Amino acid sequence: MSVNRRDLLTASALLLAGPGFASRTSAREGASVTGPRVLCWNENPYGPSPAARRAVAASIAEGCRYPSDEQTQALTAAIARHEGTEASHIVIGTGSGELLRALVLVCARDGGEIVAAEPTYLEMPDYAEFFGVKMKFVPVDAQLQHDLRAMRAALTERTRAVYLCNPNNPTGTAVGATAIRDFVTSLPAGVTAIVDEAYLDFADGLDVRSAVDLVEGEHRVVVLRTFSKLHGMAGMRLGYAVTRPEIAKALAAACMTTPNLLSVRAGQASLADKDFLAGTRARIVASRARITSHLTGLGLRYAQPQGNFVFFDTGIPLELFSARMKARDILVGRLFPPFTNWCRVTIGREPDVDAFLGALPGALRA
Ligand SMILES: Cc1ncc(COP(=O)(O)O)c(C=O)c1O
Repeated sequence: MSVNRRDLLTASALLLAGPGFASRTSAREGASVTGPRVLCWNENPYGPSPAARRAVAASIAEGCRYPSDEQTQALTAAIARHEGTEASHIVIGTGSGELLRALVLVCARDGGEIVAAEPTYLEMPDYAEFFGVKMKFVPVDAQLQHDLRAMRAALTERTRAVYLCNPNNPTGTAVGATAIRDFVTSLPAGVTAIVDEAYLDFADGLDVRSAVDLVEGEHRVVVLRTFSKLHGMAGMRLGYAVTRPEIAKALAAACMTTPNLLSVRAGQASLADKDFLAGTRARIVASRARITSHLTGLGLRYAQPQGNFVFFDTGIPLELFSARMKARDILVGRLFPPFTNWCRVTIGREPDVDAFLGALPGALRA
């Protein structure tokens, strides 16, 4: 059995929390939850969708079979329709995290540099550094947004790729489509723009939309999407890339695993479950507005949130704040240097948001 870093962190957080943690079940939501409120991994607790759950239940007996080419192709075709493109532009991965890693191999296995914001999602940077690729981190600007001008200036002839996490994790801020287009079209021919849109479904900012239309242009663009966020399928490990066919082929060849049958079936069902997706988005966006207006009321600064989480300045060391939250059965995000006083809180169900907002004044108090 392999245990990853996230498993260990969650397990240790639960152990540290001790036996006093509440046990809660929610029959209405169809989920059983034991332990603290887990608001630290940017998961979507409303999922998987009812249709995805039915698809998994109906496919369980086929678990003795490998997924067939037809089954995987059916999901690829459904994703291509959803993205308004051809199946030859789609690569399915065991989570978009796997595709981020495979992109390191595609773009930079012979060394070179990758440019990324700081802070940003570290799955690709960590993997790149493991392979001896140099990461060049460019600090986010005063609004905690990607500083595209500074990122462009950071490029050298050794640069192989630029990672744009839009909306960015952990800051939650998003860059508009026009700015992304200008940035991408300014890149030298050999540099790949990797646009990670894991949280884009939750965005509502002006001009914030997918960069998928840039894939057909002359620049090397890869857009990544995941079923872990809006679809609420983080545990099922499914994501995809949209890119032009020759990059898609190289990316597929660099992947090490293939998604399992249950996630393939669930992904297809979830894409079609429009009511669930719209309802989930509405609930998370409404909770996000509640959290930000609460923070404003408390006089706390926050980055403009466009994902299913909020990044805000607690005004005290995060270590102290998260320990106080933990004492109230709430796990919040880890430290994201250099923002040592800032907390990333995931938007859970409404009762989780109630609990978080209720615990906030006490956790902030000196
Ligand atoms: C920005 C970003 N990209 C990608 C991922 C990985 O998603 P997946 O579950 O599809 O591997 C995450 C996970 O939290 C993320 O925050």
